Amino acid sequence: MCGIIGISSNKSVSSSIINSLKKLEYRGYDSAGLATLFDGEIHEIKSEGRVNHLEKNFDLKNLKGTVGIGHVRWATHGIPNSINAHPHSSHNVSVVHNGIIENSTLLKKSLSDKGHKFKSQTDTEVITHLITENLKTNELEEAITKTLKQLDGSFALGIIFKEIPDLIVGARRGSPLAVGYGPSENYLGSDSYALKSMTNKITYLDDGEFCIIKKDQVNFFNQNGKKINKKILELTSDELSYEKGDFKHFMAKEIEEQPTTIKTGIKEYIDNLNNDVNIFNFPWKINEIKSITLIGCGTAYHSCLMAKYWFEKLTSLDVTIDIASEFRYRNNRFKDNSLYIFVSQSGETADTYAALNLCNQNKMKTCAVVNVIESSIARDSNYVLPIHCGPEIGVASTKAFLGQILILYILALKFGILKNEIKKDDYLQKIKDLKNLPILLEKTLLLDNDIQAISSTFNEAKGSMFLGRGFSYPIALEGALKLKELSYIHAEGYPAGEMKHGPLALIEEGMPVVVLAPKDSYYKKTISNMQEVIARGAKVLLITNKSTDEVFSENIWQTIEVESTNEDLLPFLLTVPLQKLAYYSALKKGYDIDKPRNLAKSVTVE
Ligand code: G6P
Repeated sequence: MCGIIGISSNKSVSSSIINSLKKLEYRGYDSAGLATLFDGEIHEIKSEGRVNHLEKNFDLKNLKGTVGIGHVRWATHGIPNSINAHPHSSHNVSVVHNGIIENSTLLKKSLSDKGHKFKSQTDTEVITHLITENLKTNELEEAITKTLKQLDGSFALGIIFKEIPDLIVGARRGSPLAVGYGPSENYLGSDSYALKSMTNKITYLDDGEFCIIKKDQVNFFNQNGKKINKKILELTSDELSYEKGDFKHFMAKEIEEQPTTIKTGIKEYIDNLNNDVNIFNFPWKINEIKSITLIGCGTAYHSCLMAKYWFEKLTSLDVTIDIASEFRYRNNRFKDNSLYIFVSQSGETADTYAALNLCNQNKMKTCAVVNVIESSIARDSNYVLPIHCGPEIGVASTKAFLGQILILYILALKFGILKNEIKKDDYLQKIKDLKNLPILLEKTLLLDNDIQAISSTFNEAKGSMFLGRGFSYPIALEGALKLKELSYIHAEGYPAGEMKHGPLALIEEGMPVVVLAPKDSYYKKTISNMQEVIARGAKVLLITNKSTDEVFSENIWQTIEVESTNEDLLPFLLTVPLQKLAYYSALKKGYDIDKPRNLAKSVTVE
């Protein structure tokens, strides 16, 4: 969470820092700030709200300096205001920080006893004063090594120094951090996205490492302060995907890109000639794997749940799913013959990453299904299945969800055929259906006007419910999540058959309820559950697929029909109207669709 940028250059850095901060806003956007060094002093500007607020409040021309650090914040300690915004500076040190310092209260007390004065409610300010204190008796590298050892918790840090004005220190434990190399300048960034407009040459810091960045030189150190060498990676340039183009919001663009996401995934993973799944260099023998555990957070967790239904249908594997923040603190019984799959768009989500580390420490087989292939989760997994959907900027995940479930479906198919648990003919038919999916998605995307009209009813309601059974249940959860994330309307996703065990009590006259009832093997049961909510006054929006079978039900408020395909693939199509419902509902309310309140795209705190 939060975004960091640092630049050491031979020219003024403040406007480049501001530009990078704008790109980093997807990581946090409740306040922003930057600090540069000039005239022998640290100069900092900070403001509550977005980066353009900061730009409006201060005249950047006055902020000279060739070395600087900037930050966009997602509040953890202390409310979002300009005092708690980063950087946090003492008379000679200025710090930007992502993560959480768990022993900040203790450190603050001992530093206060030594005369340090604190201005903010943040844990970060403790780091500033700790370094200030350690610099009294140590040279730079020793002071940094000592400080990092005194900190508990997770961090990515950018630090500048009044008395050593030509450099930036970067340090990492838990939260990601990258160094970029440019002409006569070098950079520090909380991810490569912030650096991509300036350079494609990147080095990622590993946990425990720190670096010293000057305009013409970068040195890396391990946790004991010993100099180390690190590789420079060349990233592929993909600038266009970071632009909104003609779309009003990134989310709208990303919803429309979904047929391409699926096409790319199919191109990467399906051998067109042999109608087979291409999963190359899989490091284990298929018979070594008897069970699968899928782990993720938020939308990625819904992908895991979706995959459970497919793996259980197509294979005899024992499938468990887990929310990463729960998995990591339970007393798990690790199983040698299990494959642990970590699903994450960003590949940086702190809880998912910690769960992966736990599995790695226990020498488990680990596999990442990620979008960002340079991410920590990708780098630390034994095997990586990228989803190749390009940058996803909207905070609410859309195309990455379809990208994730596509790869998981393809993996389930491969396991099914390799374990002789699907018939060859079925396998070939399913691959054929898969290849047709982009066209069906394109058609489903045309369902636009109906959804726009329907969204007003959701906006007027106190709350809403999203119901589904079987393959549609994970999609109901995802639909409800999208609506609450974007429109701040209370929305519950529920297994349709479970309503009668409690949630039915919530149904009252006029409450909008989305029922996902495609004509699959669960159809009749779901329709019965739908009757139960209609009988209690709910306004039902039925989402089903086109078919010659009539829906035998009266009093349905609205029906939306997606295209038809085999039942495994209907979840892809059902997702689209729900994404649009959330989008239009937030649009009508005038909310910030790409940056919903209180949220962030990459959650690097636990
Ligand atoms: C945040 C985002 C969600 C996302 C979740 C997991 O909460 O707002 O959209 O699903 O993190 O992120 P990941 O990058 O691990 O998929």
